[in-house]
Amino acid sequence: FAWFRVLLLSPILICTFGSNVPVGHLKVLGSHRPPSVIIDEFTVDTAPKPEEFYRDYVRHSKPAVFRGAVLESKAYKTWSDAYIREHYGDLEARIEGKKEKWDTIPAGETYLGRDTFRHFVDTYHNSSSYMVSELPEKMYGDVAVIPSVGACGLIGKRFVEIDIWWNGGGGKSVIHKDAYNQINCLYRGTKHWKLFEYKYEKWIYKHKELEDALGGFSEVNVDRVDLIKHRNFAKIPWSNLTIHEGDCLYLPKSYYHQVYSEGQNILAVSLLFSRFDDVNEIDMSDCNDETDYKALRPLSDFDVMWKWAGTGYMTMGWGDIEENYRNELRSYVGSVDKFTVKHWNQHHETLEGFDIPREKFPDLESRNFTKAFKAFDKNKDGILSVNEIDQSTWDEFRYYALQFEDYEPSNSYMFEYSLIPYERVLKLIKMVLKSQEKLTRQNWIKLYTKETKGTPHYANIVFDGLVGQDDVVICKKIT
Ligand SMILES: *[C@@H]1O[C@H](CO)[C@@H](O)[C@H](O)[C@H]1NC(C)=O
Ligand SMILES: *[C@@H]1O[C@H](CO)[C@@H](O)[C@H](O)[C@H]1NC(C)=O
Ligand SMILES: *[C@@H]1O[C@H](CO)[C@@H](O)[C@H](O)[C@H]1NC(C)=O
Repeated sequence: FAWFRVLLLSPILICTFGSNVPVGHLKVLGSHRPPSVIIDEFTVDTAPKPEEFYRDYVRHSKPAVFRGAVLESKAYKTWSDAYIREHYGDLEARIEGKKEKWDTIPAGETYLGRDTFRHFVDTYHNSSSYMVSELPEKMYGDVAVIPSVGACGLIGKRFVEIDIWWNGGGGKSVIHKDAYNQINCLYRGTKHWKLFEYKYEKWIYKHKELEDALGGFSEVNVDRVDLIKHRNFAKIPWSNLTIHEGDCLYLPKSYYHQVYSEGQNILAVSLLFSRFDDVNEIDMSDCNDETDYKALRPLSDFDVMWKWAGTGYMTMGWGDIEENYRNELRSYVGSVDKFTVKHWNQHHETLEGFDIPREKFPDLESRNFTKAFKAFDKNKDGILSVNEIDQSTWDEFRYYALQFEDYEPSNSYMFEYSLIPYERVLKLIKMVLKSQEKLTRQNWIKLYTKETKGTPHYANIVFDGLVGQDDVVICKKIT
């Protein structure tokens, strides 16, 4: 009888599978299968000590949620729009459009892609502006480091960069991965995270980028997942997480994630720390009976490799001083018998080729590797030793990195120059002068900001370049 039923039913089954439309096809991300990877969650009372946190989570790249972990922090208790405006209004941050696209970089108070906190607070509830920036150091005192990270041990001594993520609702990312480990604490709003383990990268349809890039993103459209074009994506088990204000998420290095912000004010601070690649143990020797495993500590108690002063050139995305710079220089200096400034300059010469002419950029110093060499050469004998590299301070590496790192337009006041090319501005000027005898400064600013979505600040610079400080006209002759 059972046989008979199976035979009878099988054509129907074949038919269903035969239609060949995968479950969740052209639906929103996460429709391909129910979430199945469970993420461990802790309360303030059950959170692990740093030793256990490293051993059970960081070492295995395993995420964890810390519910209510920063409810007692100053940032959680004080950071209203009015408070931030009053205390931090003059500081600057980097801004993006809510959609991750280069052509939607918004203009802040003065610059494209850069805003003051004052202007951001006044506009973010009703603009496309998404603050994705290094957090100004002056705000570190309000931000909490949870005990599992900061009570003791090496993790809290390896903060690479501190970022703020702030938008007025609807911020949404693609599926991507970041280079560093991070503790992401939400101070306002709600965030929905979808997580995909790094081991499934082979099915993630990673966008082709530089081969060795540690970051990266998926080509899958998160609003409408095409499971015929991206067939293997359907195989990926995933985690569905909702993070509320006051919660923190440990997101391991290279773990793929997609985030959607809910609310009218969604503000997170992310503490990025070293990858700890290729090790099974890290130094926890300062953890002892005296350690306070319960107290939040202000971030201002910690050193951070790349701190942001709240003005000038930003260092977002720079390397890990210990795992990148120190390790690389150590092996390099160790590979030569007597490592002189000649070897040093030979090594760095190759970098100059793809650099911009720094002297044209007022927020950047021009490169001087010789000066960096001298800072590392502690005994001033003209020879660098591995020992000297080992003993160099973060400040010395910071100076070195300033020479070494590539110029990144979005870290600079000059972003507008790289987004709105010279040719486009020239074309605009020519176009106006074809139809008009003269152009006032005011009209030029109006036209420039409308056509290029650039700022009045740069419209003025262009106008100054043409006629000096005059407010009046450009004659036809100028073209
Ligand atoms: C928000 O922006 C929309 C569209 O740009 C505009 O119509 C509306 O008046 C703005 N609301 C506020 C409160 O500024
Ligand atoms: C993911 O979690 C959110 C919030 O709890 C819930 O609304 C949503 O339905 C979940 N998604 C899936 C596919 O289970
Ligand atoms: C670079 O720094 C060295 C040492 O401080 C100095 O002697 C040299 O003039 C500098 N070179 C340039 C091009 O500024």
